[in-house]
Amino acid sequence: MIASVKGTRDLLPPETRVWNRVEAAAREVFALYGFDEIRTPALEATELFVRSVGESTDIVHKEMYNFTDRGGRSLTLRPENTAGVARAYVEHALAQAGRPWKLYYIGQQFRYERPQKGRYREFRQIGAEVLGPADAATDAELLVMLFDFLGRLGFTGLSVSLNSVGTEATRPAYVEAIRSFFSSNEKTLGDDDRRRLAENPLRVLDSKDPAVQDLVASENFPRMVDLLPTLDPAADAHHRELKALLVASKVPFKENPLLVRGLDYYTRTVFEVTAAGLGAQDAILGGGRYDKLVADLGGPRTPGIGFAIGEDRLVDILPEKFRKEAIEGARRVAVIPLERADVGESMTLAESLRKDGILVDLVTAAKGPGHGLKVAKKTGAALAILLGQEEREKGIVNVKDLARRTQESLPRLGLAAALRARL
Ligand code: HAM
Repeated sequence: MIASVKGTRDLLPPETRVWNRVEAAAREVFALYGFDEIRTPALEATELFVRSVGESTDIVHKEMYNFTDRGGRSLTLRPENTAGVARAYVEHALAQAGRPWKLYYIGQQFRYERPQKGRYREFRQIGAEVLGPADAATDAELLVMLFDFLGRLGFTGLSVSLNSVGTEATRPAYVEAIRSFFSSNEKTLGDDDRRRLAENPLRVLDSKDPAVQDLVASENFPRMVDLLPTLDPAADAHHRELKALLVASKVPFKENPLLVRGLDYYTRTVFEVTAAGLGAQDAILGGGRYDKLVADLGGPRTPGIGFAIGEDRLVDILPEKFRKEAIEGARRVAVIPLERADVGESMTLAESLRKDGILVDLVTAAKGPGHGLKVAKKTGAALAILLGQEEREKGIVNVKDLARRTQESLPRLGLAAALRARL
């Protein structure tokens, strides 16, 4: 037997019904807010992620699926989708349209991480990006949309962790403050964190080392939001306006001055939503502003903001009501021909019912009616129609309710309406 690759998984029915419902809800809600779908390739040039996500991040440093293709190009299976969206924006000169672009995507991402609950090497994200506007209202509306979506899935009690990581203007001073904080504590740092401190001190805030986490959480650790008012009053005003708009829009949030997110492209707003019930991998989504990314990729300076939801994690903690409705929602009818001679008529009947919007599963190749009913039950049909010579001649069908174990004869005329009343 050849097993699936470590860290990847097959999504099987009926679970795929739940995934489809979640994705349909995302499409529906995002469209209400003026978003359109973008589909970018799963394969990108390695350089794209080095330049956007950042060389010193864990993702680029140790989690990417890189390989050299037969033409000698260095390619990477995308670890995230924001970089691909920004690349496409530049490549297709979308800026020239002179309008904001509101884009969403649903798709696989790949990271070479140690697999555990909620963490896979192939996983799926539902994400959205807004390219163009830089105002706080854009940030607020994105979060309003996100909570609208989560609310429609039945989530309650979720809250956003919110922070501002400042801008290019404030970064050098913040980085300096972090360096000087650690200058007296450098011995506490392991190899990984020492490398982070040298290459990109902000990444020390992502450290998984408990001793370092304690230091970062301590009172004297510098916080960007405290530096903002003096270093960058405009970024500070943006942050304050966003918070006011979130309060007005009733989006629940908590400030988390230590949130920096593990990707280098962020400027100003960053946010995350965590949920109980997920264990160690408790972030169901993350996002933020990236006002320099498009320019860094060679495009015209274009601010952007977005989020990506980890769909695997989202589905894992989906409210039971939504899951149940997704699985049981579409009630089906099985049509079972009694003899081979009844197959043609059964197909015709099945087609006519489908035209009336009824989900019909034609059960052929059954070893007799008893077996046919068993198959119908196992595939989850609610009703089964038995069709034989007698029924054909009389213009009726025998309908069995598989849960209630009742049977009745119904005329072929008006059958769809009669079935719908019983489904
Ligand atoms: P991220 O925080 O790296 O951000 O990933 C977003 C979400 O993807 C995480 O919160 C998590 O739910 C899910 N995720 C990440 N890694 C895994 C994994 N190995 N297995 C399962 N789920 C995972 C980004 O990717 C940014 N592109 C988000 C963004 C969009 N920022 C601006 N626009």
